[in-house]
This record gives sequence, structure tokens and C-alpha cells, in this order.
Amino acid sequence: MENPKTQILIIDLGSQYTEVIRRSLRYLGFQSVILEPKKSLEYIKNNKLKGIILSGGSASVYDADVPKIPNEILDFKIPILGICFGMQWMAYVHEKSSVHHVLGGKSYGPVEINFEQNNESLLFRGLETKINAWSSHGDSVKNAPDGFLITATSKAGKVIEAMEAVDKKLWGVQFHPEVEQTEDDNIILNNFVEKICECVRDYSKKDLIKNIEENTKKVLGNGIAIIGVSGGVDSTTLAAILTPKLKDQLKAFFIDTGGMRKGEVEKVQDIAIKAKINLQIIDKYKNKFINEVGKTIDAEEKRAKFRKVYGEVFQEVAKSFNATHMIQGTLATDLIESGNLGSSALIKTHHNVHLDLGLKEISPLDDLFKFEVRDLAKEFGLEELVSKRQPFPGPGLYLRILGVPVTEELLEMVREADFEVAEILKKHKVYDKISQTIVALLGVKTVGVKGDGRVYGYSFVVRTVETTDFMTVKGYYLPPEICEEISSTLVKHPKIVRVMFDWTTKPPATTEFE
Ligand code: XMP
Repeated sequence: MENPKTQILIIDLGSQYTEVIRRSLRYLGFQSVILEPKKSLEYIKNNKLKGIILSGGSASVYDADVPKIPNEILDFKIPILGICFGMQWMAYVHEKSSVHHVLGGKSYGPVEINFEQNNESLLFRGLETKINAWSSHGDSVKNAPDGFLITATSKAGKVIEAMEAVDKKLWGVQFHPEVEQTEDDNIILNNFVEKICECVRDYSKKDLIKNIEENTKKVLGNGIAIIGVSGGVDSTTLAAILTPKLKDQLKAFFIDTGGMRKGEVEKVQDIAIKAKINLQIIDKYKNKFINEVGKTIDAEEKRAKFRKVYGEVFQEVAKSFNATHMIQGTLATDLIESGNLGSSALIKTHHNVHLDLGLKEISPLDDLFKFEVRDLAKEFGLEELVSKRQPFPGPGLYLRILGVPVTEELLEMVREADFEVAEILKKHKVYDKISQTIVALLGVKTVGVKGDGRVYGYSFVVRTVETTDFMTVKGYYLPPEICEEISSTLVKHPKIVRVMFDWTTKPPATTEFE
């Protein structure tokens, strides 16, 4: 990670979006390094940096355990961009009373940003006078300290959204320019690195593929590596990239957990053939999964149980191949949300993150985001099918049966419903516009009437979302005629009474229900 030529340092103050800043910079063609505050000073002294970004974070400058950013970073006169908490810290070190708690609790969600009239700020050059942005904060800057100019506001000028002190080389934004909901087309981050810091572009996708191949080969040596291929973008792309380089040293397999979608196994086999991956299908553990995972209802317990069974099965498979290493298609998003990257909080336990199996783990994609892997798949010449498929979580349909124990019968019901919904969406040519479709069974029974009789049955919920990175998502609103067709199709099943639709944004709702 420590690249002596890196021009930008991101100081991680605990934001869920720290890796998103890094990803956005990569997208713009710039590498960067993420460090915790206590390691930052040493790094700044020993490297010729051109810019520093202070991430957001959930702390308040008034908390006792606030991340300790060394004040000396201000002495180097390297341009600094403070985002959210980063901007609050910047204000606080210049004037202690300049930060206050947001009235009425946290400010959270979309916000319209107004750039001051005649705004000459280099940071916002190329933007309209107003943009929609994403904010998430408990404190805010109530007055700009001496020497700072307010460059953007919201809520009719009442909230300071950006400030800068050009001669001190300091810029601050209260909202999050790195997330896709901020409609700035990455102009703000690009202005900071290119126009203010004067960085040169130093990142390309071809370099990345070569690095993945060579680094994996170096770590593996003469060992044997296993890779679990799910048929999803991440593991399939990775297996396809590594197969020509590692040849027989790579053992690719697919575990059928019983929680797959209709036709999934055949589809995965098909993709593997197209991607020239020598894939083995292992289906003898299906009942073990249903029996052991099915009993749990609590989301985290279910994930933990799935992870445990998955680990045990993986271990048996690894033994059968005499494997020494395990290659994982884990992405930055998975690590951030399992609380395994930087200082972000645990959202969900992922089934395949840091499974301690006694094998050496290699995760060549662990600082990439979904859309980057899709790009990589294309770059590598993989079929559209791989690069455009909707993601499907490892625990699969187990996560789509909510509030009741998972049985083979319910799995079959969800599997069929998922298939029917996908067919309808494809027929109406909207399936490819949706980033992910989730069809889940709600375990609360409700009353309905079918024919002349009372039915006491299940409800289904259909969730369609749009996103590029799954760190944040917004609802993909289906037109009424499609909703109608979906509900009338699903309720044909004798045990399904109601169908609901869910377009809640993430945050606060996650993409999956569990
Ligand atoms: P959430 O629900 O966390 O989902 O917003 C973000 C994306 O990750 C997928 N997901 C998983 N993928 N193993 C996976 O391989 C998992 O345990 C898992 N949980 C969520 C989810 O489907 C969405 O695409």
C-alpha cells in the first residue's frame, strides 16, 4: 500500500466513505494512501506529498476519544481538503468556538448546496451555482474562523457547507463530494487533486491487471490455491484473470449451498466455460446448509451460522485439493461493512471475509469497488454476461426469508418468486437498468381471501435499487403496470397473500434485508 510516489494522503477519521474517496481518486486516475491519524505525520515528513484529504468521521471535535489529528500537518503548507468532520476539525483548531451541534440532532441525507455568488473558488470551478449533495453529520461549523472565506451554504444561507483559506492552503466541505449522490460528477475531488494540488495522473486499469497476476503469483510461490467461484462478478473475474497465470496451481470450485437462484448452477457452469475457468461443482453439502442455517432467524446469527458452515465445507474441500492458499474475491465494500477496513463500523457479517481456515489468504481485489471490477471484467475481455449480471450475495436466498426458519419449501417459494419477478422485469426491458433486485419472503402471516376461502399466508417484498458501488443506493421506482403484473403473478401461489415494494435509500436501509 505504501507507494513512495503517491501524491495524495487520505487521513482516515472513521468515515464509512474513506475507501470511497480513494476509489473516486482512482477513477479520476490518481493513486492515494489511507493512513490513520497517528501515522500521518511521519508519512508526510518522509514523502513528497502534493495533497492531504481528511475524511469525515462519526466523532465530534468535543468527544474525549476524538481521532487525534496532529496539528503539525498544517505546518507543511501542503493543500488540505477537510471533508465533513475533517472540515469541522479544521475550523476547531483555528477557533475553538466555531463548531456546534446540529440543532435537532443529526443532519442526514440530501442537501441543496448553494455556491456563493461570484464564487471564485478553484475547488468548485466548472460547477453550476447549485448542486444536490449528500450530507451526514452531527456537528457543523457555525462561523468561519478568521482568514477563512465561506464558499457554499445550504438552507437559505443558514448552514456553512464549504469554506477555504487559500493562503493557508486549506479547503473544507461539510457534505461528501466522494459519494455518488453528490451530483458534481467528481469535479470537486478532481479540482482539488488536479488544479489545487497539481498532481499528475498515475493510475491505469492495465497496470492493475498485471499487478493482480504478479502479486498473487509471488505470494503463492509453489503452493496450491483454491478459489470459490460464485458466478458473480468478483470471484469469476478474479478466477478468469488468474487462470492463465497460475494454471494447475489454481483450483476453482463452486459450492451449491441450496440457497441459489433458479438455474444458477447451470448459468455459473456456462460462464466458467466462456471465461475458460476449469470449475468443479460441489453439491453434496446442500442439506448440511439447510439443516444448520435454516434454524436461525436473527439476521446476524444467520450470517454467522452460514459463515461457520461455509467455512467447514470450504475446509473439507481445501483438504481434498491439498491447498496451501485461498484466493478471495473480497472487495473493499465487503471489508468496510464487516468493520475490517480502517475504522468504520460493523454493518453486516460477510460469509467469506477473513475465514480463518489455516490457509494463507490472498485477496487481490480488496481495495476495489464493484464498478471497478466490472470495468476490469470488460478490460479482460470477459463477456457482457459476467460484467453486467446483478450481484447475488453468498448466503443467497437464506437472506431473503425473513422472520421464520428457512426450510426447503420456503427456499423453493422464494426461488420461484425471484425467477418470476426477473422474467417480468426482463420482459419490460427494465432488468438491465436495475442494479439489484431483491425478492424476499416476509415471515409475518396476514389474512387474505382467495376464491371464497380465507387464506392466512405470507407476503413478499420486491426491492429494486440503483447504484454504482452499493455503499449508497437509491430506489429504482417501477411503473404501476409492472408492479401490478408482479403482484398478480406472485399471488397465484396458494400461500402468498400480499406483495409490497421497497424503494428505501441506503443509508439508512441496506440493500439486502439481512
Ligand atoms: P448491503 O445489503 O450490505 O449489500 O447494502 C451490498 C451488496 O453486497 C451484497 N451482499 C453480499 N455479497 N456476501 C456477498 O458476497 C454477503 O454476505 C453479502 N451481503 C450482501 C448485496 O447483495 C449487495 O449487492
